[in-house]
Amino acid sequence: MALWSGRFEEGVDEFTQRFGASLPVDRKLYLQDVAGSMAHAEMLAAQGVISDEDAAAIRQGLAGIKDDIESGAFVFDVNDEDIHMAIEAELTRRIGDAGRRLHTGRSRNDQVATDSRLYAKRRATDLMAANIALREALLGQAQRNMGVIMPGYTHMQHAQPVLFSHHMLAYVWMLTRDFQRLAAARISADANPLGSAALAGTTYPLDREATTAMLGFDFPTQNSLDAVSDRDFLLDLIYACSVSCLHLTRLCEEIVLWSTSEFGFVTLSDSYSTGSSIMPQKKNPDFAELIRGKSGRVVGDLVALMVTLKSLPLAYNKDMQEDKEGAIDAADTLEDCYVCAAGMVDTMAIHPDAMMDAAKEGYLAATDIADYLAKKGMPFRRAHEVVGHLVLLCDKRGCGLEDLSLDDFRAESELFEEDIVGCLDLKSIVDARDVIGGTSSHQVSHQMAMLSSQIQQDKASI
Ligand code: ARG
Repeated sequence: MALWSGRFEEGVDEFTQRFGASLPVDRKLYLQDVAGSMAHAEMLAAQGVISDEDAAAIRQGLAGIKDDIESGAFVFDVNDEDIHMAIEAELTRRIGDAGRRLHTGRSRNDQVATDSRLYAKRRATDLMAANIALREALLGQAQRNMGVIMPGYTHMQHAQPVLFSHHMLAYVWMLTRDFQRLAAARISADANPLGSAALAGTTYPLDREATTAMLGFDFPTQNSLDAVSDRDFLLDLIYACSVSCLHLTRLCEEIVLWSTSEFGFVTLSDSYSTGSSIMPQKKNPDFAELIRGKSGRVVGDLVALMVTLKSLPLAYNKDMQEDKEGAIDAADTLEDCYVCAAGMVDTMAIHPDAMMDAAKEGYLAATDIADYLAKKGMPFRRAHEVVGHLVLLCDKRGCGLEDLSLDDFRAESELFEEDIVGCLDLKSIVDARDVIGGTSSHQVSHQMAMLSSQIQQDKASI
């Protein structure tokens, strides 16, 4: 019979018992449940609500249960509804009445909120560390390949040349913002609901500041109804995971494209590729694709919890039991994706010649030639049109802008002089973009320095 079975005459039906249970999911929160119970018992003893002997027995009993869960010796009983019941029932089997006193002044409603917040803080911290490892891998590629030029794209069409390092660093910036979102999710979980009891607080003289300090929370929550109903911190965590997953899909999509024979910009290492069971020549970017694919589930986790919480009246409702599965899944999935992406990026081979050859296609100097004319006084719109004519000429001749003669240029505008060749060289084009955030070597080196010190700062904040 369940721990709450006093007012019942019959046990729950076997199916509904299983249907109502959250143990298969929330057993992952055993560490947090033990920590919360230890702090609660310690505080109850300090307040004189239970004896020091009972608190000592509870402490010892819980430590033994934690060890047994860790070693695999703990046998979970399928009849236990959730991790809270499973641990409390076992504690009582082990230490008797002292175990029955643990739940004094507490409800599973504030208990589960406390466990979930501790868990969210832990997982946000783990993800922050994994996020940094990926940023370091991207930064490493940017540093090792400084000077490599590739085509920059808009609409997937060649647009202007950029440094490959600039492209890599764009992802480091995205992931830096993701780190900040994870840090914000950790802050949003950092309040102690313990002591809110079922919904209204409790008649026992609980010292909520004491459990707040013992559990490492920032402050005790200030409204018991809100404390047991609030799952915003899980939404925040899953949202942070979802946005970061979306960023990974963009990176992985590019890696998939870049490793095609059409692009040939990168080769993934064998450890991050798979073969085909029928086509012996195949080397597939499976893991980049899989990271791209996994984002669907994580965004689904976010939508699922939002819809679950929608319209719930105060305070606790059993619907909320559905909160943990998606949050655990989102954090686990993103952590795995970070680890996989970091290894894949770190070990991929870059092909500067292929990137450079591609950058020579598609008239990437066009904007610079227009700027050349505009800087000599021609209105930009007119300059745009002149260069359009030159591109058309190249199209007809099947050549590049750099293949045109000075006479060809001058036939379109008298403003062209010998120095136009400076606008046709890709390195000069790149380095001419020397504005803050631009792709010049000077600006990109500066960006690199900023991002590596940001990484050091973020590491210190974990
Ligand atoms: N297993 C429950 C959950 O995850 C714990 C809280 C249950 N509280 C209750 N009053 N039934 O939400």
